Amino acid sequence: MLIDIRTIDKIYRTDDVETHALRDVSLSIARGEYVAIEGPSGCGKSTLLSILGLLDTPSAGSYALSGREVAGLSATERSRIRNREIGFIFQNFNLIGDLTVAENVELPLTYRGLSAAERRRRTAGALERVSMSHRARHLPAQLSGGQQQRVAVARAIAGEPAVLLADEPTGNLDTANGEVVMELLADLHRAGSTIVMVTHDRRFNRYASRTISLLDGAISSEPALAV
Ligand SMILES: Nc1ncnc2c1ncn2[C@@H]1O[C@H](COP(=O)(O)OP(=O)(O)OP(=O)(O)O)[C@@H](O)[C@H]1O
Ligand SMILES: [Mg+2]
Repeated sequence: MLIDIRTIDKIYRTDDVETHALRDVSLSIARGEYVAIEGPSGCGKSTLLSILGLLDTPSAGSYALSGREVAGLSATERSRIRNREIGFIFQNFNLIGDLTVAENVELPLTYRGLSAAERRRRTAGALERVSMSHRARHLPAQLSGGQQQRVAVARAIAGEPAVLLADEPTGNLDTANGEVVMELLADLHRAGSTIVMVTHDRRFNRYASRTISLLDGAISSEPALAV
C-alpha cells in the first residue's frame, strides 16, 4: 500500500474548546488509485488531507507512507518527505504573485538538490503537460483562474511525487474551468498518478475510482474498490 493509516484521531485544542476533527479513521490507498473524499463542511476532509500530506500530525494512530511510519517523525524529516513524495493542489491555487509561472513551478524543485538543467527540464515538461508552456513568463495575476490552477497542477507534478493531494481544486472555478482541471487530473490518473481529492461537488466523484464519505470526523461508508 502507498498509504496506510490506522485508527487515526485528530483533536484540536484551543483555550476553551476541544474539537474532535477525526475519529478512528483507517484507510488504505494503493498506488495508482484515485480516491475522492466527500462530506459536509466541517466533517474533517481538509484535516485528513493535511495529515496525509504531512502538513499536520494525528493525535493518535499510525500512518505509513510507502511502508514507512511517518506519524512520529520530526518536523524537518516530515518536510523533507513532503517535498519529495507529496504534490498539493489547493482551492485558492497558492501561487506566489511576484514569481513567473515557470518560477512558481520550479521553486519546490530548488530544495531537491537537482541541477539547474534538470529543474528547467522538469519545469518545461510539467507546463507542457498542463498546456501552459505559452504562459511560462507570465505572472499569476495575468492568468485566468483555470489557468492558475493548471499552473498549480504543474507545480504539484514537477517533482514527480508519489501522490497528488487536491483540496477542492475546482472550488474557485466556474463550471467550464472546473471540468478542464478535472479532465487534467483524470489524464494524470490514467498516466499512473495516485490522487486523493476532496470535493463538495458530487458531479466530480465520477472521475475517482473510489469515494470515501466522512461524517463528523468518521468514515461513514467506504464502497468497495471499483474495477
Ligand atoms: N487549526 C484548527 N484549530 C482548531 N480547530 C480546527 C482547526 N482546523 C480545523 N478545525 C476544526 O476541525 C473540524 C474539521 O475541519 P476541516 O477543515 O477538516 O473540515 P472540512 O471537512 O475540510 O470542511 P470544509 O468543507 O468547510 O472545508 C472543524 O470543526 C473545524 O472547525
Ligand atoms: Mg476543507
